[in-house]
Amino acid sequence: MSITKSTDSSTMIPTRTQVAIIGAGPAGLLLGQLLYKAGIDAVIIERQSGDYVLGRIRAGVIEQTTADALDAAGVGARMHAEGLPHDGVELCVDGQRHRIDLAALTGGKHVTVYGQTEVTRDLMEARATEGLLTVYEAQGVSVHDLGAGTSTGSQPRVRFTRDGVAHEIACDYIAGCDGFHGVCRASVPAGALRTFEKVYPFGWLGLLADVPPVSDELIYVRSPRGFALCSMRSKTRSRYYLQCSLDHKVEQWSDAAFWEELRLRLDPQACDELVTGPSIEKSIAPLRSFVTEPMRFGRLFLAGDAAHIVPPTGAKGLNLAAADVTYLAAALADHYNGRDDEGLARYSERALARVWKAERFSWWFTSLMHRFPDNAGFGDRMQEAELAYLFGSQAAQTALAENYVGLPMVLH
Ligand code: APR
Ligand code: PHB
Repeated sequence: MSITKSTDSSTMIPTRTQVAIIGAGPAGLLLGQLLYKAGIDAVIIERQSGDYVLGRIRAGVIEQTTADALDAAGVGARMHAEGLPHDGVELCVDGQRHRIDLAALTGGKHVTVYGQTEVTRDLMEARATEGLLTVYEAQGVSVHDLGAGTSTGSQPRVRFTRDGVAHEIACDYIAGCDGFHGVCRASVPAGALRTFEKVYPFGWLGLLADVPPVSDELIYVRSPRGFALCSMRSKTRSRYYLQCSLDHKVEQWSDAAFWEELRLRLDPQACDELVTGPSIEKSIAPLRSFVTEPMRFGRLFLAGDAAHIVPPTGAKGLNLAAADVTYLAAALADHYNGRDDEGLARYSERALARVWKAERFSWWFTSLMHRFPDNAGFGDRMQEAELAYLFGSQAAQTALAENYVGLPMVLH
């Protein structure tokens, strides 16, 4: 059973389904599983290959609500077996470490460190096991007749080609899970959506290596040379990040240069315990905050990165995607089982209520821990005052902890 190949799609692609999901990243795959569990027919159309999707390296800090969604989708077993529960996180500021006791401050909540690649793999395996169709390497995907405002609710359709064969799938609803650069949001008529954006004046240079983590918990570092993050995928695989200039190219950074710069930003204890090794992945990602309002246009529902982006500092991207599709799957289940359409009507309102709180936390944490070129002087003092208050106030640490472990889902 191949988890990265479409089912023999040249003969298996239907002309109709209930929900067409565009994008086979975490949002699309999780939505597909939740709809399957609710008895709702869905086809996922993905422009990349399955191997390409699996090759993406992304943050893997799982909130409890996301773990619950993975369990509801029937794919939580490996996360529970292999994921690392974390009750705390450390902030290292100018060489001094401060532990935020997440569990103590949130009545026992924690996060689970489990790579997004593994979440994606678990979802792909479940989908393949159940023989559910994901059309990989779909070309020229377009969405039509989204039906906003028409009383008859014209039937949406998705068009694409695969293996040179043109396909059209009619459906009741389209779930735009196609990420920030996808086709769905871009297909909404101008003026129907409002977007909000903040681009940060730096990027994150990430390195993955099969070396033991420098600490049992994540360490977010604010140093005079810039931000750094010590994370992990397991007890034998580590993930590190360095704040870098936007004009840097990953080719400029040898492994040796990365490790040398990381050492210059870490505290003495971390430097002593740091184990370096050859990178198995190295990349630079820009940081932005982005939100689309509303997250719906007629029979098109946007979810995950297609609707919003957060800077990775708060590790919210995957968790927001999971929350969106939890709301959307529940709303579609209410619709198809004849209960009501309130969930569909309120999807955008409910999802955005959570999105904006996560955007705020991610922006706050990014603003607190990074060096901003234009911050010299007053801005630096504001960061220092905020940090001094944080480390001296249980109330402030509780606020950080509540947001880091994830705010409760409001389902009804
Ligand atoms: N047609 C079909 N598929 C498309 C198209 C298109 N026109 N455009 C993009 N896609 C696919 C991408 O190839 C990708 O596999 O949509 C998928 C979107 O997946 P993600 O970008 O991973 O977004 P999402 O599923 O919302 O997951 C959010 O991923 O980017 C991270 O930090 C983010 O952790 C968060 C998570
Ligand atoms: C990661 O492990 O990739 C990671 C962890 C926490 C973050 C961002 C990235 O805030």
